[in-house]
Order: sequence, then structure tokens, then C-alpha cells
Amino acid sequence: MRWRRLPNHVDNFSFELVTENHTPGVTNDHYVVSCDKGTVTIQGNSLIALASGLRRYLADRSHVDFYWFIGSQLEQVEALPSCTAINGSSVVPWRYHFNTVTFSYTTAFWTWEDWEDELDWLALRGVNLPLAWVGMEKLLVEVFHEVGLSQPEILDFLSGPAFQAWNRFGNIQGSWGGQLPMSWIDKQFDLQQKIVKRMVELGMTPVLPAFTGFVPRAFSEVFPDASVVNISQWNGFSSQYTNDTFLEPTDPLFAQLQKSFIVKQQTYYGNISSIYTLDQFNENDPISGDLDALRQLSSTVWQSLKDADPNAIWMLQGWLFFSNAEFWTDERVEAFLGGVTRHTDMLILDLFSETQPQWQRLDSYYGKPWIWCQLHDYGGNQGLYGQVMNITVNPIEALANSSSLVGFGLTMEGQEGNEIMYDLMLDQAWSASPIDLEAYFHDWATIRYSDSNTTSGPLPAQIYETWEILLRTVYNNTNLTSAQAVTKSIFELAPNATGLFNRTGHHPTTITYDPSTLVEAWQTFISASNSTPALWSNKAYQFDLIDISRQVLANKFNPLYSAFIAQTNLTNLDTTNKSTRNASIAAATQTQSQMLSLLTTIDTLVQFTPSKSPESSLPAWISTARSWADGNATISDFYAYNAINQVTLWGPMGEISDYASRQWAGLVGGYYLPRWQIFTDAYLDALKTGHAVNQTQLHAGLLSWEEQQQEPLASVGTSLQPSDGLQNKINLIESEWCEVLGC
Ligand SMILES: *[C@@H]1O[C@H](CO)[C@@H](O)[C@H](O)[C@H]1NC(C)=O
Ligand SMILES: *[C@@H]1O[C@H](CO)[C@@H](O)[C@H](O)[C@H]1NC(C)=O
Ligand SMILES: *[C@@H]1O[C@H](CO)[C@@H](O)[C@H](O)[C@H]1NC(C)=O
Ligand SMILES: *[C@@H]1O[C@H](CO)[C@@H](O)[C@H](O)[C@H]1NC(C)=O
Ligand SMILES: *[C@@H]1O[C@H](CO)[C@@H](O)[C@H](O)[C@H]1NC(C)=O
Ligand SMILES: *[C@@H]1O[C@H](CO)[C@@H](O)[C@H](O)[C@H]1NC(C)=O
Ligand SMILES: *[C@@H]1O[C@H](CO)[C@@H](O)[C@H](O)[C@H]1NC(C)=O
Ligand SMILES: *[C@@H]1O[C@H](CO)[C@@H](O)[C@H](O)[C@H]1NC(C)=O
Ligand SMILES: *[C@@H]1O[C@H](CO)[C@@H](O)[C@H](O)[C@H]1NC(C)=O
Ligand SMILES: *[C@@H]1O[C@H](CO)[C@@H](O)[C@H](O)[C@H]1NC(C)=O
Ligand SMILES: *[C@@H]1O[C@H](CO)[C@@H](O)[C@H](O)[C@H]1NC(C)=O
Ligand SMILES: *[C@@H]1O[C@H](CO)[C@@H](O)[C@H](O)[C@H]1NC(C)=O
Repeated sequence: MRWRRLPNHVDNFSFELVTENHTPGVTNDHYVVSCDKGTVTIQGNSLIALASGLRRYLADRSHVDFYWFIGSQLEQVEALPSCTAINGSSVVPWRYHFNTVTFSYTTAFWTWEDWEDELDWLALRGVNLPLAWVGMEKLLVEVFHEVGLSQPEILDFLSGPAFQAWNRFGNIQGSWGGQLPMSWIDKQFDLQQKIVKRMVELGMTPVLPAFTGFVPRAFSEVFPDASVVNISQWNGFSSQYTNDTFLEPTDPLFAQLQKSFIVKQQTYYGNISSIYTLDQFNENDPISGDLDALRQLSSTVWQSLKDADPNAIWMLQGWLFFSNAEFWTDERVEAFLGGVTRHTDMLILDLFSETQPQWQRLDSYYGKPWIWCQLHDYGGNQGLYGQVMNITVNPIEALANSSSLVGFGLTMEGQEGNEIMYDLMLDQAWSASPIDLEAYFHDWATIRYSDSNTTSGPLPAQIYETWEILLRTVYNNTNLTSAQAVTKSIFELAPNATGLFNRTGHHPTTITYDPSTLVEAWQTFISASNSTPALWSNKAYQFDLIDISRQVLANKFNPLYSAFIAQTNLTNLDTTNKSTRNASIAAATQTQSQMLSLLTTIDTLVQFTPSKSPESSLPAWISTARSWADGNATISDFYAYNAINQVTLWGPMGEISDYASRQWAGLVGGYYLPRWQIFTDAYLDALKTGHAVNQTQLHAGLLSWEEQQQEPLASVGTSLQPSDGLQNKINLIESEWCEVLGC
């Protein structure tokens, strides 16, 4: 790492690794950093301990770090201050990262350069247990081919590039809009080989895939006697795309395919890890709830892993125990986990610990080792949000109350932003008491905005005031009835006169703070640049300013929408008086224009996002998707369609439309805005004619419009280019919106 990120300081660092008595997953990691006149010595008991010590030193003393979207600032290191020894100890042996679906919502189209950044980010933050299941399809193809399925039969089963996660755990099968080409599978596999190699170099234990039992439909033709079942339908998909065929683990073919899969994987990667992710009942229930059947089921799966790799450890995402809690009664969970009679052969992710922890109900998973995870985000949705108390106080309490807790981790569906929440969780893994939040936010801001231009003196006080406000408001939600995860803005939802506000739970639209306080934070943040104009060239400042501005504007959509709905409500209309009627029409027309203009403002603002990450704008998302097609136009269009479909309709027919909505340049202006135009036009027409909106017709019209957008979106603003500077843009926004925003 020091070679790649700190090329000019090779001679200034020395690393000493003392791994004696260190067992991954059992031993806590320690480091000691000592520094003297430009020479920094880092000692540690694991490679990850060394990386963690390096970050602590660089961040605390040299004020440089590495961030999502913004990238590495490490090369900006100038002075290497002397220090009194810094030492650190992890409080849990494992630090885990990734949700199974992050591989679709965030990394689906990542290149090796994106992965290099991510892996360095993880290493510096002490993560030693990352999920590594890119390119799993290559192994599946080989395993199925070996037992006699043809390539077309296998490819028929696989889902498109943006939907592979759900195919891997059996929710969906097949692909809409085109078929997954073999070239994708091969290239993803090449990428995976680089990823796991780098993970091992950095001292991480990759969590590898295993055979789950989900098989192509044609499996039953090749093996007519195989014991297979069609599992349940998922989220209203037609059975062509769901009801996956599941080879029952009790069939001897299951163990055969498991062994084939794992042996091939070991041959390709070497003996690099024995921890396997294996989820069969994610949002679909076992056929039988009988306790003995459940015990036998898990026992058989476990044996299949052990037959293939005697050291195998089965990692299970605990999501099912929460999402399908009705099926998964305490006795059933106990029976299912009890089938694995050696506790240490399993590792459970308590997937949504900050909001819906299951470990207390399930008696610490009846003794199985488990990891406390912050989920935080669904579908890559954007919205300033956090539960700072829950991710600092609760994991430390859990540590005191559960002897089988062995790790802390992050299981966000998408790595969307709110980076401080992710840093905080991973840093909590190195602190035996709940982190002091005021101090943490203060120091995080110092590191984030310091560069050689901004730090001729201390950073302006307004920077710290802003983060204090954010800590108290957006990041301190304590009412889990109103919101449990990142909040969506209502403009991202299909327009409707009702039902958009006050959604609670894990796709909340409830704003959990006073929006005017965020306006105050926004103004304070802008004013920081008065005394330190160099902030305008600081990428972190640019990124955060855009993010806060985006949220302030997005929040303003709500009252405009409310006003519009009231103004177009025919029951309030005085039809007998022409002039009041005209006044109502004029008022509603003006509100419509403000709503649409607000969305244009958001779209043109977020175009300034100083990031090349695929998940930073619609054009970036689409063009990285296309880049995997090697210039084949058919394949390129299929990948673009897939990329767009995920963030809009999510399914061929809008099965879970807007689940993965994003406030991206190109999507706000090219999709949400015209959708609201159609809706508000219909309501204005109704006001003019006096005939109520035909909901069924409007609903069908919107749906068919959404379906027709898949192609035009592919070419939306492929060359989005902000025309002027960010500072100018912010000034314009203030002059246009401050009156309504109250700033
Ligand atoms: C790094 O080490 C070299 C050689 O000892 C020394 O000249 C230089 O000043 C050091 N750099 C820093 C930033 O301290
Ligand atoms: C860590 O630092 C403390 C003092 O700050 C010191 O007493 C202790 O010995 C150090 N631990 C190690 C392992 O060096
Ligand atoms: C599963 O569904 C397919 C397609 O509808 C059908 O042909 C097959 O018979 C079903 N298999 C079982 C075991 O029900
Ligand atoms: C798909 O699953 C649903 C239950 O979730 C079931 O009613 C239907 O018959 C299944 N279809 C097939 C083809 O297996
Ligand atoms: C793989 O490595 C582990 C130790 O990390 C060792 O116990 C095991 O025997 C190795 N397996 C093979 C097949 O070499
Ligand atoms: C999260 O923290 C709040 C207080 O901030 C607390 O009331 C709640 O019980 C915590 N939730 C969980 C799931 O522990
Ligand atoms: C400092 O400012 C100069 C001039 O605006 C710019 O070229 C340079 O990239 C800035 N340095 C950093 C670290 O942002
Ligand atoms: C967060 O809110 C809770 C409940 O209102 C309060 O007790 C706590 O002090 C707040 N924490 C911070 C850091 O503001
Ligand atoms: C929590 O939020 C719910 C739903 O928004 C609301 O009904 C309730 O009053 C809130 N509770 C508190 C203590 O504010
Ligand atoms: C729903 O949200 C709106 C706008 O934030 C608010 O005015 C209203 O009181 C809320 N309604 C309920 C039932 O909570
Ligand atoms: C592009 O890919 C499609 C689908 O895989 C294939 O049928 C076609 O031959 C390819 N075209 C070229 C020019 O290679
Ligand atoms: C608005 O929501 C209601 C209730 O879900 C639904 O019946 C209606 O069709 C929707 N209207 C539109 C335009 O989608």
C-alpha cells in the first residue's frame, strides 16, 4: 500500500509484523506507531493491524485519509510530525464489510481501479473479512456444464449484470432485456482473481461463495430423479423470472455439486479462505417448518461444505430471521442452527443490528459466533441520515452481553454517501467504550477538509458548527418508528396525491429533523468559505456542500407538493366564481413551475459532484456499464438497459419500481422531473375542466411512460458538463431559492 499511495515516502515508513500467536477471527489486532524526525515505525500483529495503524497516524497527525467518491488524499502528505506513541487494539477480531446486494447496487460495473480504491479504503479502516463473490457465475457454469447441462441451458438461468445478487440466492432467475453473455462471466471472473489476490496481500480473509442449490430449470431434464422443488414467487415477478428451482440438500447430487464448486474455486484461487457465504432462504421459506427437517437441512448443507473443505466455516446472513420472522420462530431458528453441531463452523451476520437486532431474541444465535452489523442504507438510496447512538452504544453493550460476538461490520445495500456513519462504525471496533461523538465529528471534519491550501491556519469555525448541527439532526435519529434507515425524498417516488408522506420503517420518507435547521447548517457551511476561499478547491468540501444543498432542496419539494395538492383539490374549489377559480388555477400553475424548477436545480447542482465513481451520476453509471461490452453494440445496449432498469423499474414490469432510486444527475432531470410534469399536468387539467383526475388512467399512463423511458435514459446527458463553477452555482441557488427556503 505504501508504494502505491505514498510513493514519495517509501523511506519514511517501516513496518514490523509480529504475528506470533495471532489467529484470524480469534485474536484481536494491535498496533503501535512510533515516530521520530520523519521516520515512522508501525508495529502490529497482523497486516490489517499495520494498515490500521498507518491510517490512524496519517489521519490524526498528517490530516490525510481516503474517502469514497473523493479518493485518496494520502499522496498530499507533506510533513510527518513526530508523535508520542499511538497504539490501538481492536475490541473484536473480525471487521466485516459488504451486503450480498452491494455487489449489485454499488459495485455491479466497477473496474479494477474502483476495486483497488475500495480495498485500500477497507484495509485502512481495519476490515479483515470482506465478502468476495464477484464472478461466481464462472464457477456455476463450469459445475453445471460438468454434469451435462448445455451452455444455453445454464445461461438461461443467469440474471443480468445489475441483478446477479438476487439470482445467486434464488430470488430471481433469467434475464430480461437480453441474455447474460459468456464474455461478462469471463471478465468478471478475471476481476475476481485480482480482487481476492489483493485482499490476501492486504491481510484480509475473503468470504467466498459456495453452491447454494439453485439450479437451472433444465436440471430436472438432465436428472429426472433429482429431488428438486420450485421455491416461492418473489416480489410479484412472473414465474419465468422467479420460482427458482432448488436442489434439495438431502439429494446426494447437492454434495457432489458443492464439492465440485469448492474444489474448482480452490484450484483457481489457491487455499486462501475457508469461510463461505451460503444463503438459501433469503426472502423465501424452507418447504417444511418441521424442526427435525430444519435440523437435518442445515446439517446436510454443513456436511457438504465440510466434505469439500474440512476447514469450512458457513457464513449466514441473518436477514431471514428478521424479514421472515413469522416463519422463523425461536424454535425453528434453534433447530436450524442446531443442525451444525460445532459452533465455530458457523458465522452469523446480525444484519440490521442498529434497528432490528435479532441476537437477543435468538439467545446470541444459540452460541454460534456472530457479527454486529450496521445496515443503514437500502438500495443505494441517498439522504443525509444516521443513528449515531445505536451504532456506538449498542455494539459495546452487545459485547458485554454476548460471549459469541466476534465482529462488527457494515452491511449497507449500497455505499451511497453518509461516509461518516460508516467510518464511525468501523472505528468503534477499535474502542472499548462508545465513541465520544462530538469529538469524533470534530476530528473527522478536520481531517476531511485539511489540505495544503485550506490549512494555512485552523479550519474556520463554521465547518465545525455545521458538523455539530448535522450530528444533532440528520445523524441522530432516535425515533425508529419514524425511520430505520436512509430516508428517501418523495420526488423519487411515483407521483400520487396520497401516500408519499410519512412513510416509516426501512424505506422512510419521514424527515426526522426540523428542515429549517438543515438550512441553517447549509448556510453555515457556505459561510466557512468566506474566511477560507481555498475550500472551493477542496474536493471534500465540494462534495459535502453539494450533498447538503441537495438535501435542503429535496426537503423543500415537500411543502410545494402539499400546496399543489391542496390547490388542485376540486372539493375546495369555488366553481361558481370565475375569478377565484382563475386565481386557483394561476396559483397551482405557479406551484407546479416551482416544483419542476426545483428538480431542475437539483439536477444541475449534482452535476458538479466531483467524482468519477460509477455511482455518482446516471451517465457515469451507464457508461461504466457500457464499458464492459468491448464495443459490441448489442451487448452495450443490454448493459445500459440493465443499469437503468435497476435504478428505475427494478424488474421487467416495474415489480419493485423506485426501490433503488438515486438523486443522480440525469435521473432527477431525465426521469423524476418529466414524471412529475405528467402528474401535475393531469391535476392542472382537472382543475381547469372540473373533472376529477381518472386515477386508473393516470396510473396506467405513468407506468407505460416509465417503461418507455428505458431507452431514452440511456442517452440522457452522456456529456453532462457543468458549465460554470460550483461557487457560482451555489450563489445562483441562493438567489433563486433563499426566499422560499427561509435563509
Ligand atoms: C523522509 O525521510 C528522508 C530520509 O531520511 C528525510 O530526508 C525526509 O525529510 C523525510 N520526510 C519527511 C516528510 O519527514
Ligand atoms: C500503549 O500506550 C500506553 C500509553 O499510552 C503504554 O502504556 C502501553 O505500553 C502501550 N502499549 C503497547 C502495546 O505498547
Ligand atoms: C417448476 O416450474 C417449471 C416451469 O413452470 C415446471 O415446468 C416444473 O415442472 C416445476 N417443477 C416442479 C418440481 O414443480
Ligand atoms: C411460484 O410460486 C407461487 C407461490 O409463491 C406458486 O403459487 C406458483 O405456483 C409457483 N409457480 C411455479 C411455476 O412454480
Ligand atoms: C489450507 O490452509 C489451512 C491453513 O490456513 C490448512 O489448515 C489446510 O490444510 C490447507 N488446505 C489445503 C488443502 O492445503
Ligand atoms: C437505538 O437507540 C435508541 C436511542 O437512541 C434506543 O431507544 C433504541 O432502543 C435503540 N435501538 C435498538 C434497536 O437498540
Ligand atoms: C491548491 O490550490 C491550487 C490553486 O487553486 C490548486 O491547483 C491545487 O490543486 C490545490 N491543492 C489542493 C491539495 O487542493
Ligand atoms: C441524540 O438524541 C438523544 C435523544 O434525543 C439524546 O439523548 C442524545 O444526547 C443525542 N446525541 C447527540 C450526539 O446529539
Ligand atoms: C416517532 O415517530 C412516529 C412516526 O413518525 C410518531 O408517530 C411518534 O410520535 C414519534 N415519537 C416520538 C417520541 O417523537
Ligand atoms: C405527514 O407529513 C406532513 C408533512 O411533513 C405533516 O405536515 C403531517 O402532519 C404528517 N401527517 C401525519 C399523519 O403524520
Ligand atoms: C455482439 O454480441 C451478440 C450477442 O452476444 C452477438 O450475437 C453478436 O455476434 C456480437 N456482434 C459482434 C459484431 O461481434
Ligand atoms: C395513487 O395511489 C392510490 C392508492 O395506492 C392508487 O389507487 C392510485 O391509482 C394512485 N394514483 C396514481 C395516479 O398512480
